[in-house]
Amino acid sequence: MKRPLTLWLAVAVLAACSSRQTMLDPAGEQAQEIDVVWRTMLAVCGFMYALVLAFLGWALVRARRPLATGAPKVGHSLNERALERGLATWIALIVLGLAGLTATSFLIDSALARNAPGPLRIRVTGNQWWWAVEYEGSTPDQIIRTANELHLPLNRPALIELRANDVIHSLWIPNLSGKRDLIPGRVNRLVITPRREGAYRAQCAEFCGLEHAFMALDVRVDSAADFEAWRERALAPARVPTTANQRAGQHVFMQNACILCHTIAGTDAAGVTGPDLTHFAARRTIAGGVLMNNREALASWIANPQAHKPGTNMPAVTLSDNEMNALVDYLESLQ
Ligand code: CUA
Repeated sequence: MKRPLTLWLAVAVLAACSSRQTMLDPAGEQAQEIDVVWRTMLAVCGFMYALVLAFLGWALVRARRPLATGAPKVGHSLNERALERGLATWIALIVLGLAGLTATSFLIDSALARNAPGPLRIRVTGNQWWWAVEYEGSTPDQIIRTANELHLPLNRPALIELRANDVIHSLWIPNLSGKRDLIPGRVNRLVITPRREGAYRAQCAEFCGLEHAFMALDVRVDSAADFEAWRERALAPARVPTTANQRAGQHVFMQNACILCHTIAGTDAAGVTGPDLTHFAARRTIAGGVLMNNREALASWIANPQAHKPGTNMPAVTLSDNEMNALVDYLESLQ
């Protein structure tokens, strides 16, 4: 099959333009350090590559000249001393280049491994195919549990503990830091110090099954005040249903399979197999980034999850139109 080159070029250019998920637009201290390595490697390797191509071109042009005029004069055209000097310069360039790359890589690696003082401690757990996020608290009522969203305060280091419940995943927030694997039975750590407010997108970066590509994490870097406001909201138990339809929806939730897998703080629902839904309506997307969080998408997702995310563990819940309407009303009230 023939694929037009322009299409690939357009995809590459457009992908580079997206500032929500790109390592070319660092918004965190660690990403800035990695950016230094990337630019150094690009400069050194690009320079050497250009030199090699220039010499290759020069050699090709030279080789053609004698052929055109008759007998080739191989071996006599360069004087020995010039050749030796050229080779010595070339070797020196290679040694300098490699030494520069090694030193940069070593220094940045040491900087990335430094412990940050007074970090915010967060635990992120990879599941097929969603992210469980838990903020440490001094007492149990200060712990925040959420899913598929990560709020970080500006300029405060966050120490993220990475775990996996099933297979190996990898957390990569390109704007903020490098990637690190989440491995079952092991705890990995990643420090992120955000330096610019904004919304970013993280993506699982290790193939983890059918829906690997649909394992996204919404990342928000908030000012200290905004983060505190979010924290206050997130610590509160779920909103109590206020309308008859919302109350009916809560009843549908508690009487069906939903209650087995999901937690809604302040209710009987305490399942941990699926994402915590206490403040579900405050999230931008659902199903690990597959759908935007709105009524139509939510109803469609509950009625037939396999249609949106083949292989997901979320079972289809068969409901009447009225029940579905009430359930969606209830879930979308959980701000
Ligand atoms: Cu999780 Cu790929």
